[in-house]
Amino acid sequence: MPVALPNRIPYSGLTSLGGDPRQRLIVALDVSTAAAAQRIVAAVGDSALTYKVGMQLYTAEGPQVVHDLVASGRRVFLDLKYHDIPNTVAGAVAEAANLGVSMLTVHAAGSGKMLRAAVEAAQVRPGLMVLAVTVLTSLDAYDLDKIGIRGSVEDSVVRLATIALANGCQGVVASAREASTLRSELGGNFAIVTPGVRPAGTSAGDQVRIVTPAEAMASGASHIVVGRPITEAADPAAEARAILGQISR
Ligand code: C5P
Repeated sequence: MPVALPNRIPYSGLTSLGGDPRQRLIVALDVSTAAAAQRIVAAVGDSALTYKVGMQLYTAEGPQVVHDLVASGRRVFLDLKYHDIPNTVAGAVAEAANLGVSMLTVHAAGSGKMLRAAVEAAQVRPGLMVLAVTVLTSLDAYDLDKIGIRGSVEDSVVRLATIALANGCQGVVASAREASTLRSELGGNFAIVTPGVRPAGTSAGDQVRIVTPAEAMASGASHIVVGRPITEAADPAAEARAILGQISR
C-alpha cells in the first residue's frame, strides 16, 4: 500500500512519456572534452533525445557544454548531485534551470529543507525534474553503519525517497533492485532513473549489479542511464536502437 505523500507536487510526467521509448533512454557522456561528447552525440543521431552531463564533463568543460547540447535540441540530465545548505543549492538549481537542463540531481540526505529549496528554485523552468539520489549504490550497510546510519540499505533508500517526494522532487535515482521496492512502497507517480544497465550480451565493465533494459523497466524504472555500451560501441546509433527495442518489448 503506497504511503501518503501530503506535500507532494503532482508529477504527471510518467503518463506523458508516451509510446516513444526514446523518452526513457538517457545516454551518459562520461568523457573529458566537449569534442568527444559532440562526437558521441553526432554518432547517436536521433536514436536518443537526452544526454547525461556528469561531474567529469562538467568539471572539464563547464556550462558551455550544457548550453551547446540544449541549443542543438538535445535534452540534458545534469547529474552534479547537489548537496549543500538550502540557499546554495537553490542558487545552483536556478543556474541549471537558466542553462535549460531538463533533469538534475540533488542528494536526498541534504534534508527536506534543502530539497524543498531545490524544487522551488526549479519552478522557473516548468517541467524541470528534480531527482533525488538516495543511497549511492557504492555503499553497503557496513558503510552506512560507519557513518551512523542504522538499518538496511533498503530502509534508508525508502526513507530518503519518501522525504524527497514529500518535498516535491519529481523522482529519484535508484538501482533497478531498489526500484521494485520503491514502487511497492511509494506508488507509481514519480520517476525512477536507473543506471547500471547493460544490454544482454555486452560487457559489464566495472558495474557489479547490472540489469538489462527490459529488466529495469519491469522492475519499475521510468528511465535508464546507459553510458559505455552506447558511447564505446562501434555503431552507437545501432546500439541505442537495439536498447530502444528492448525497452519497447
Ligand atoms: O558506462 P555506464 O553505463 O556504466 O554509465 C553509467 C552512468 O550512470 C555513469 O554516468 C555513472 O556515473 C552513473 N551511475 C552509475 N551507478 C550509480 C549511479 C550513477 O553507474 N549507482
